[in-house]
Amino acid sequence: MDRAYQQCIHPDCGATFGVDEVLISCPKCAKEGRQSLLDIRYDWSRLALPKSLGFFEHRWSTKGERGEGALDFSGVWRFRELLPFYENESDIVTIGEGRTNLQDARLLADEIGLKPGCLLLQYEGLNPSGSFKDNGMTAAFTHAHMVGAERVACASTGNTSASLAMFASLSQTRGIVFIGTGKIAYGKLSQALDYGARTLQIQGDFDACLRRVRQIAVEQPQLGIYLMNSVNPFRLEGQKSIMYRVLEALNWQVPDWIVVPGGNLGNCSAFGKAFAELKELGLISRVPRLAVIQAAGANPLHRLVNERKLRWNEGRVDTGAVKRFYSEIDAADFHARTIASAIEIGHPVNLSKALRALETMHGVVREVDDETILEHKAMVGRYGFGCEPASAAAVAGAHMLVEEGVIDLDARVVCILTGHLLKDPDATVRYHTGIDMQAMQAGAPRREPEGRMANRPIPVPDDLQAIIQAIGAAELDQSLVADGGHAPDPLGHLPVSEY
Ligand code: F0G
Repeated sequence: MDRAYQQCIHPDCGATFGVDEVLISCPKCAKEGRQSLLDIRYDWSRLALPKSLGFFEHRWSTKGERGEGALDFSGVWRFRELLPFYENESDIVTIGEGRTNLQDARLLADEIGLKPGCLLLQYEGLNPSGSFKDNGMTAAFTHAHMVGAERVACASTGNTSASLAMFASLSQTRGIVFIGTGKIAYGKLSQALDYGARTLQIQGDFDACLRRVRQIAVEQPQLGIYLMNSVNPFRLEGQKSIMYRVLEALNWQVPDWIVVPGGNLGNCSAFGKAFAELKELGLISRVPRLAVIQAAGANPLHRLVNERKLRWNEGRVDTGAVKRFYSEIDAADFHARTIASAIEIGHPVNLSKALRALETMHGVVREVDDETILEHKAMVGRYGFGCEPASAAAVAGAHMLVEEGVIDLDARVVCILTGHLLKDPDATVRYHTGIDMQAMQAGAPRREPEGRMANRPIPVPDDLQAIIQAIGAAELDQSLVADGGHAPDPLGHLPVSEY
C-alpha cells in the first residue's frame, strides 16, 4: 500500500486510488449510481510520525523564517507530518498561509454569558487572502502542482475565489472562478479581479455555479481543469491545520467546543478528520465537541439533522431521505438567502463528511437568523476583533448554545472567525448607517433599520469648536442643540450623498 492514497468514504466500497489521480468523487461508486466523496488516507506505519504534539515545538524557533524555513513559516506546513500526501517538499506551494492566532475574547465572553477565559476566537481572517480558505488552497495547489495541472477553477461565494486567484497568480497557474451574479461581497470580488483570475459571473447562485464547474471539470477533460472546491479532498487536508493551531495555542490541551459556520461543510468535515486522526494516532486523549452553525436562510444541514434526524450511520447515510429533502425544496423553488453571503449555499457538497464529523465530535447543528448574525458581528468588532457576517454566525451560535444550556458557562469554547471584517464592507456600513451602498450606486438610496450596536458617523462642520464638542458627541448631542450650535441632523445622518 502507498504511504498516502485516496479512498472512497462509503463503507460498502472503500476503493482506493493513488494520490497522483485527479478525482472529485469515487469512480467505482459512480458506476453503481452513487456519488461518494473521497478521503486522503495514510499508512501511518510507513511514515515518520511525531510521538507527541510537543514535537512541533522545535519549529517555533524557525517558524518566523522564510527561505530555508519557508515550510515552518507556514501555519499549515509546520504540521506537515500530519498531511504527508506530497512526494517532495519542493512540491509544496506556500505563501506563508495559516499564520493566525487564537485570541482570548474576555469582553465578548461576558456578553454571551461565558466565564472569563472561556471564549477563544481563532482569527483566520489573518490569512494572506483574508480567510481560512488559504489553509486548504495551499494543499490543493500543492496537489495540482504534483499532477501538473495548468488550469484551476472553482465555484465560490467569494473567499474560495479570492484564495484561488491569489495562489494561481503566485504559482502562475491559470485561475478561473465562477461566481453567482450579485452574490459576492465586493472585498472578495476585488481580490479575484486584482489577482487576475478569469472571473465568470454566472446567472445564478452558488449552487448553480458549482454544478457547472463540476460538470466542466469532469465532463470536459480536454479542458484540463483542476477543481479547487472543497469537494477536492486535498483542500480538507490543509484545513485540518486550523485545529492543530488551536491545540498549539492551548499548549496541546483539547478545548471543550469548536464552533464553526457551515456552508459547503468543508471546514467542519476537515476538523472532524483532524481529530479522528489525532485520536487514532494517540496524540490526543479526547475529542472536543463540534457545533456547526448555519444561517436560517441557508440551513440544509440544520433541517436534515434536527428535523429529519439524518445521521452518518457508519457511512450508510440515508441518501433517499436526502434526495427527498432536496426534491421538496427544489419543488418549492427554494433558494438559499442570507446576509452572510459566504454561507449562502443550499446543496452542500460535503454533507456526508459533515455528518461523519458530527459523529466523531459528538456535534450539534443550529441555525441563526440574519439579524442575530449582524448583531454578533458588531459585537465581535466592538470587542476588538472583527469578522465578516458568516464568521459571526459561529459566535451567535455559541451564544445560543450557552443560553440553551448545551454549552456550560465554564466550558472552553473556540469559535472560528473564518473571514476578515474587510471582506464585506457593505454589510458593515449598512448595519451601522442603515444605508445600502449598492442600492445607492444603483440610484435607489434606501435607509434600512440600523442595528442595536450601530455606530453612526457624526456629521460635523469643519469648525474646531464643533469638532471638540462632537468628540464627546453621544453625551453632548443635547447640549449642542441647546447651545444653538452646530446641531447634527437629529437622526445623526449625513445626507446620503456625502457617504
Ligand atoms: N465562512 C466563510 C467566511 C466562508 O467563506 C465560508 C465558505 C464558510 C464560512 C463556510 O465554510 O463551506 O467549509 O462550510 N465559503 C465558500 C466560498 C463556500 O466559496 O468562499 P464551508
